[in-house]
Amino acid sequence: MTDLHVMDATSDNVDQIVAVIHHAFSARRVLDPPSTALSENATTVAAAIAQYGGLLVRSNGVPAGAMLFEEIGDVLNLRRVSVDPRHQGHGVASAMVGCAEEVAVQRGLNRVQLIARVELPDTVEFWRRRGYSLVEQQDHNLILAKAMPIELTVPTADDMRAIGEELAGRLRAGDVLVLSGDLGAGKTTFTQGLGAGLKVRGDITSPTFVISRVHPSLAGGPALVHVDAYRLGGIAELDDLDLDASLDDAVTVVEWGHGLAESLAADRLDIVVTRGDDDTDETRELRIIPVGPRWAASGVRVSVLEKN
Ligand SMILES: Nc1ncnc2c1ncn2[C@@H]1O[C@H](COP(=O)(O)OP(=O)(O)O)[C@@H](O)[C@H]1O
Ligand SMILES: [Mg+2]
Repeated sequence: MTDLHVMDATSDNVDQIVAVIHHAFSARRVLDPPSTALSENATTVAAAIAQYGGLLVRSNGVPAGAMLFEEIGDVLNLRRVSVDPRHQGHGVASAMVGCAEEVAVQRGLNRVQLIARVELPDTVEFWRRRGYSLVEQQDHNLILAKAMPIELTVPTADDMRAIGEELAGRLRAGDVLVLSGDLGAGKTTFTQGLGAGLKVRGDITSPTFVISRVHPSLAGGPALVHVDAYRLGGIAELDDLDLDASLDDAVTVVEWGHGLAESLAADRLDIVVTRGDDDTDETRELRIIPVGPRWAASGVRVSVLEKN
């Protein structure tokens, strides 16, 4: 058994991190132009860690992996992602990526980004499997990014609508939102906010008999297609709704879509509304999980509840 331990890098780890970076990058085949990683030294790494931090992985106590962080705006950049070749194939890189994403979320950053070389398809594939998408190519450098989930505490129904309304401003035709949460959690309330933001016609309600309803835009924007899959028998009935026909032209929201609607769209926002055990507390927790390339370049940000 390999015992992996990922830790926040400190100034005490500088020499070990320099060693891991050098082991990793000198084992890589030489590219043209070559990586500048081998010019990292104790001074540059110490400065990077002091400014933005980084990670060190120990495998059975021995330094095995490292990366350096950099923050630019809302983005956490992963630099010098390194696994000592003697420790490859033991999940060192995966463990580091998981921790780096946690760091990004804790720091309130909405995307994680890194540069991979176009000549190294296995590396690119590693990142793709973890949900990273190509957002830009600069010569030999592929810029890969992933949007981070965001979590919001929502005190009132009006706050829930306000979040939907703000989010609507970032949506465009073709976007899909999959809402989950218990009955009464606030999925329809959130959708009402979306409808207000998209300036669509008609009241948005929890339909009793209607499974899918189209709310046309009053402002020349995309329509809102509101699906309540609560009574849907399964994926076959979802197919019967023929959402594909409207998907590209509308913003589609599927309540109770979890486990059903994912097949509709590789790009989507999974939105989970939960309420605590205390019946007297109306506070909801809202988790927005961006999935797919659509969100990789922009990330998701909601600022309406940030009090000044
Ligand atoms: N913080 C809150 N967020 C969302 N809804 C809330 C909140 N506090 C109270 N509510 C109320 O809870 C109910 C949520 O119902 P609804 O949105 O229809 O849930 P769902 O569609 O998930 O079944 C509404 O009556 C709403 O006014
Ligand atoms: Mg509902």
